[in-house]
Amino acid sequence: MQEALSVLLAKAPAKLAALKTRAEFETAKACYVGPNGEFTAIMKQMGTVPKKQRPAMGKLINEAKGKLQIQLDATLQRIAETERAAQLGPAIDPTLPSPDTGPGTYHPLTLVREEMSRILRKAGFIVIEGPEVETEYYCFDALNTPANHPARDTQDTFYFPTNARFSNVTKKVPEEKYLLRTHTSSVQIRTMLKSKPPIRIVSPGRVYRRDTTDATHSAIFHQLECLYVDKNVTVRNLKALLDYIFVSLLGNDNKVRFRPHYFSYTKPSFEVDLSTSHRSKVKKEWIEIGGCGMVDPAVFEGIGYDPSVWSGYAFGMGLERLAMIIYDIDDIRCLYQNDVRFLRQFSWCSFNENFP
Ligand code: DAH
Repeated sequence: MQEALSVLLAKAPAKLAALKTRAEFETAKACYVGPNGEFTAIMKQMGTVPKKQRPAMGKLINEAKGKLQIQLDATLQRIAETERAAQLGPAIDPTLPSPDTGPGTYHPLTLVREEMSRILRKAGFIVIEGPEVETEYYCFDALNTPANHPARDTQDTFYFPTNARFSNVTKKVPEEKYLLRTHTSSVQIRTMLKSKPPIRIVSPGRVYRRDTTDATHSAIFHQLECLYVDKNVTVRNLKALLDYIFVSLLGNDNKVRFRPHYFSYTKPSFEVDLSTSHRSKVKKEWIEIGGCGMVDPAVFEGIGYDPSVWSGYAFGMGLERLAMIIYDIDDIRCLYQNDVRFLRQFSWCSFNENFP
């Protein structure tokens, strides 16, 4: 038995070195340690070894098994590396100049974000940014969204461990919970606490939700938030702004519709539907593109604004949705794959009068 083991171990390296593919490896492995393998056969002889010699023999077998396993592992690793190198193709010299000399193009989401910002700047709004790591206060509490609201469910969003620390947080409240913002509406509160009315801001940015990705959903997407606070602001002003935005963005051939809805931070609240000729891949006439409403007096009160003096409107829109309508894109995932063949199609698009 001892001799059989040493012969097996002595021959193994040469046999294993000759293997080239995973299939060959699996066959060879089975020939050693499979149910009918050589090594298994030697182990089966243990029963014939006299009782006294068994511990010593067992030790020898275990050692041999360990050595054989090391050789098998090394062989598999070698084969996997060769496979990977084959997938990667010939070695790349990163010091060579790029063969792709064409100019870069703007991403469709960038185009839509910039165009929306330009349109809203013309109407007197300023563009600001808010943090993507938010506290529950800005994302929910201050927006009149109570603790038991389903939007706060850990199933619906991404919370950080309570001991996490972030550079954008200067004053750390121990019991405060941090999360990836679920909407850009948190920027409304940050702005109102920092400045005084009249306020006219838009804030585009990334938001996060626990969502399963498909052709129209993504767990990470982009929104554009808008807030106007002043005296005597009405729903009419809100509707007028949205009409102006869509005429500027898409031309005259479109309609905007308000559908009553519920958001805890606006009263009344609406969902905004758009009907436009830019929608050949979308079968429905009306496409939902965001939410809006008049700032709820409870939100004003919560941050120390007198609701008998101040009024305001707000809306939030999905930038992906807009890009998909404008450019006739039928799968949201195309926007995140960074496939230059897709992105190059937007090289003719620009931020000028001829948008899109
Ligand atoms: N935050 C909402 C969402 O993510 C969208 C929204 C609705 C924004 C109403 C608003 C608003 O500013 O007033 O679905």
